[in-house]
Amino acid sequence: SLGLQTEVIGRHIHYEETVDSTQKIAARLAFEGAPEGTVVVAEEQTAGRGRLSRIWHSPKGTGVWMSIILRPAIPVQQAPQLTLLAAVSVAQAIEQVTGLSVGIKWPNDILIGGKKAVGILTELQADPDQVNAVIIGIGVNVNQQREHFAEEILPIATSLAIEAGTAFPRASLMQAVFLQLEKLYKEYLTNGFGIIKLLWESYAISIGREITARTVTSTIVGTAKGITEEGVLLLEDRDGRIHAIHSADIEI
Ligand code: BTN
Repeated sequence: SLGLQTEVIGRHIHYEETVDSTQKIAARLAFEGAPEGTVVVAEEQTAGRGRLSRIWHSPKGTGVWMSIILRPAIPVQQAPQLTLLAAVSVAQAIEQVTGLSVGIKWPNDILIGGKKAVGILTELQADPDQVNAVIIGIGVNVNQQREHFAEEILPIATSLAIEAGTAFPRASLMQAVFLQLEKLYKEYLTNGFGIIKLLWESYAISIGREITARTVTSTIVGTAKGITEEGVLLLEDRDGRIHAIHSADIEI
């Protein structure tokens, strides 16, 4: 047993050995009416999905590959807040379990020593302006060693074990994520995004720095000024114009 201390997150866990993507399974369950807090977790994904149509390597038994269903009663424009909330929860959980210090690159890459250890992907089911379900996909590189990573991603990717020099039980990490996520989610539902925004900013490593944002349609170089109340990134270009970035690849 995971020894759960949560009331909502992780009360229903679908544990799978091998799946194409936990995100796909969770989306189906959500569509069929699965309750908030339902989690799909797999030992291995054969077609793990990343942001911006990338693939996410999910080798057997090395990481936490999971998708969590939430059903907040919020308008669609506020959904990015949940992405940032998830990133803060995972950052807190990793610090608790490993003692490593982590940073967040907008919107939700978790970096350790400048390399990515966690990716988060949130997908929405909306109907049509109100959120029906948010599927939060979390991939944590936990116990991979260097040889698990392809040569070309070694400079940018890492795992908790590589950074800490020791392996970690994946169940402890999952439990810590559930607990932090539940705490922050309750705070969010009760008091809104205020505290979560502050927490996110305390982990942010891109704010105040010059970054390059590649969106689907353009590339903008500028200084990251902060995030809005809705979780959108504000970028000031060299001409002093402010751009609101909803989705992009960020290079620091
Ligand atoms: C990113 O591109 O940084 C996001 C990666 C998200 C990976 C996780 S692993 C569990 C869940 N299932 C998927 O197919 N993707 C997410």
